[in-house]
Amino acid sequence: MDVPTLTAYLNGRYAPLGALQVSVLDRGFLFGDGVYEMIPVYARQPFRLAEHLRRLDRSLAAIALANPHSDAEWTNIVAQLVAAQPFDDQSIYLQVTRGPAYPRSHAFPATVTPTVFAFADPLTPPAREAVEQGVTAVSIPDIRWGRCDVKAISLLANVLAKQAAVAAGAAETVMFRDGWLTEGAASNLFVVKDGVITTPAPSTRMLTGITYDVMIELARAHGLPLQIRDVSEVEVRNADELWLTSSSKEILAIVALDGNPVGNGVPGPIYLTMYTHYQEAAQARRNTP
Ligand SMILES: Cc1ncc(COP(=O)(O)O)c(C=O)c1O
Repeated sequence: MDVPTLTAYLNGRYAPLGALQVSVLDRGFLFGDGVYEMIPVYARQPFRLAEHLRRLDRSLAAIALANPHSDAEWTNIVAQLVAAQPFDDQSIYLQVTRGPAYPRSHAFPATVTPTVFAFADPLTPPAREAVEQGVTAVSIPDIRWGRCDVKAISLLANVLAKQAAVAAGAAETVMFRDGWLTEGAASNLFVVKDGVITTPAPSTRMLTGITYDVMIELARAHGLPLQIRDVSEVEVRNADELWLTSSSKEILAIVALDGNPVGNGVPGPIYLTMYTHYQEAAQARRNTP
């Protein structure tokens, strides 16, 4: 395994990523007992950091793990990591697990020293081709647990979902539960029909993306018709447009689902509008230290 020498963070120490190690008894390793965040950074300015830290706090509360850091401390860790990298646009990954414990036992250990890990990668925006021509997706039933609103590191079902896309030569997997749209393997989804944007309301069946919130804000700010409500599988399959959103993919048009064209099979006009608005928001962050 070729690990880059980029500066990373583990439990108070900054060191090259490949030099950092955690115990095999870490509950993140043994149980997937932890939560995480991924924060995009444009021109060394974290995008929506406060919102990511709020979601991290909510995820930690949901798994009854005390937040090991104040927002000021998290902000400082992120700032130090950002400053240590040789590239300007970054993807900051933060992870907190319930830490190492022995003997191995499902229930929480009596005393907990959480493991706090963070590292930075270059943020690579989607390829121009993907933006201009759109991407394809497949669909599967959503087999995940009942707290998909928690950004948990136990991502096995999401891993299998994403692999289903890769195996089919697609970019994302759309998930349906009992005939209703939930989200993508690692993204939120929006449909457009007759000029109206529709997206599922936040619930325990999906992770409320920070990018999802940005899209809703932008749609409202620009007066685009928007409905936040349950979206049926039938509506998705008959949509004029379908988009995925996430911090790393920003906003991408899905132009084919399970081999069938979505709408005209090309990125639609409302997608192009929203793409432009998102780029403006990211650009504004670049210009605001
Ligand atoms: C399951 C899932 N839903 C939605 C998202 C989008 O969240 P965000 O916009 O905060 O990146 C992600 C991001 O990785 C995800 O893993």
